[in-house]
Amino acid sequence: MTHTPTRRTVLLCTGTAALAVGCGDGGGDGDGDGDSSAASPGQELAPTSDIPVGGGKIFPDEKIVVTQPEQGEFKAFSAVCTHQNCLVSTVRDGTIDCACHGSRFSITDGAVAQGPATRPLPEERIAVEGNSIRSA
Ligand code: FES
Repeated sequence: MTHTPTRRTVLLCTGTAALAVGCGDGGGDGDGDGDSSAASPGQELAPTSDIPVGGGKIFPDEKIVVTQPEQGEFKAFSAVCTHQNCLVSTVRDGTIDCACHGSRFSITDGAVAQGPATRPLPEERIAVEGNSIRSA
């Protein structure tokens, strides 16, 4: 990972393309919480109908997993496994599962349901606006 920014990278971050790739100019929204999420604030992740009740959906690009433990209750967590940083792979039977070594995390609070991970998935902030789930 020692690549220096290429000319293409720079070009992507200008003009209308910047909207698509989330070049993150900060925008002075005063948020500044310094989390490591790849999602840009306000970016739509999915319609609420995409998130199954009692399950969830993984957004690999944003490194977020959005769950719906109860009807109408949406949660979001980092999709980066706290064991060795694999991206979690599935959401099934009330847990967010990592295929690398078998860790499982609760869809309700990100708590470890099964090791080897020992730390919960950090919660991510989302906003539900109408039928749309956005990063916050
Ligand atoms: S990295 Fe997820 S279980 Fe090891």
